[in-house]
Amino acid sequence: MSKLQTDVVVLGAGPAGYVCAIRLAQYGKKVICVEEDNLGGTCLNVGCIPSKAMISAGHFMQSVQHAADMGFTVGKPLLDMSKLVAWKDGIVKRLTGGIGMLFKKRKIEWLKGSAVIQGANTVEVTTADGKVTVEARDLVLATGSEPATIPGFDFGDLVWSSTEALQPTALPASMFIIGGGVIGMELGMMYAQLGTEVTVVEFMDQILPGADPELVKVVARKAKKQGVKIHTKAAAKSWKKHGSGVQVQAEINGKLQTFDAECILLTTGRKPRTAGLGVEKIGLKPDKHGFLEVDAQCQTRTPHVYAVGDITHGPMLAHKGSAQGLVAAGAICAKGGVAWDHKVVPAVIYTDPEIAWVGLSEAEAKDKGIETKIGRFNFGANGRAMSLHSTDGLVKVVTNAADDSVLGVHMVGPNVTDLIAEAALAIESGLTAEDVALTIHGHPTLSEVLMEACEDVHGMCVHAAK
Ligand code: NAI
Repeated sequence: MSKLQTDVVVLGAGPAGYVCAIRLAQYGKKVICVEEDNLGGTCLNVGCIPSKAMISAGHFMQSVQHAADMGFTVGKPLLDMSKLVAWKDGIVKRLTGGIGMLFKKRKIEWLKGSAVIQGANTVEVTTADGKVTVEARDLVLATGSEPATIPGFDFGDLVWSSTEALQPTALPASMFIIGGGVIGMELGMMYAQLGTEVTVVEFMDQILPGADPELVKVVARKAKKQGVKIHTKAAAKSWKKHGSGVQVQAEINGKLQTFDAECILLTTGRKPRTAGLGVEKIGLKPDKHGFLEVDAQCQTRTPHVYAVGDITHGPMLAHKGSAQGLVAAGAICAKGGVAWDHKVVPAVIYTDPEIAWVGLSEAEAKDKGIETKIGRFNFGANGRAMSLHSTDGLVKVVTNAADDSVLGVHMVGPNVTDLIAEAALAIESGLTAEDVALTIHGHPTLSEVLMEACEDVHGMCVHAAK
């Protein structure tokens, strides 16, 4: 068995692990990153990036349907699924190749294999060429998450996870989606736009639980327009093969109903990948869901062992993992003042229209006993949104009535996943609604909607008549 020594070993090369590895190398550490699959993790290979590429294809189909409004006569586009998948794979390859290049330039060693912890300083990696022992002063766990199943619904040819849904060989004529959360709604709307008949069952009383109901209403309305059938307070109970497709039994408002579809897409959440990693050998015990507890420096209770990304509590988001990766790298290299703060983690959901928010909701602020003032502005009154043929949506600003500070911003509408960055900066910097309102925003831009919503907090919105 060969032996390697390094300063830090990072397990997992997703957005939490690879970002941490690069930052450590920037600080002058010798780093080995162990990854059994391609570099980039779920995000780049089978998550954020490929889904957004496929979602762009859905938007293209939507635009074509509205082409007549702009004077174009076009026929129904024919989709060659293999070409769409190949285009999407090309994007993935470019990005994952980019990480490989960055690793090389920074002299980070990628050890391709699966790791099991042997002790606080030792990891055993099974590679294609045999076992390798890696010894390091610090260990960063960034092993990510995987799709979770529910009883009776194991993944297979007819029960897809998001991974299969991003690698279709043909467009399914119909799809039954279990779980109307982020993945279910993003991919469900994409498939509906491409032409699949989509049915969604969601356990809770609204799709996208956790998002402000005022925003969700806009997406639910659009989904319905695109033919997506949504059943809330509904739970899938069982399924069987039926012809070449599936038959699903679901309980909706207490009554059993039967649905036929070509396949099932199961999107009922993801679970952290901590099982089998050997964390118990270094005195750690994941909670009953598999998460590891970390402190503000992302250090576990075992000194020199850090955990970042989906295996820690909080939202399973690539940007949260990357931010934690930077914190852990800073802590390992004794850079002062680094701490993980979950107050300003934007949520970005690529439904049609998109949803994004950051900071507190109105309800959360009230729960904390804060008296709030709210400002709103609709994309329907924004010139740029009209010129983009995309006016569904609104921006809602939640402020502290006592000092006008921005507590939260909630958006639904065109490109809000980009626009939310300004709101995150406002909260992070402790700005007031007046600060944002006084900032000159380019015209005509979608960003004016946030400025107008901040004006509305003070009842001074120029482009809305109350
Ligand atoms: P999720 O937690 O967002 O949604 C799962 C949904 O399934 C929930 O609404 C839940 O109520 C429902 N559900 C559970 N059991 C059910 C049953 N038996 N019948 C009907 N409904 C049931 O999980 P999802 O969508 O699988 O996503 C996993 C993770 O990936 C999330 O943490 C999400 O934030 C993250 N993600 C983020 C993206 C983004 O930021 N744009 C994109 C994709 C995923």
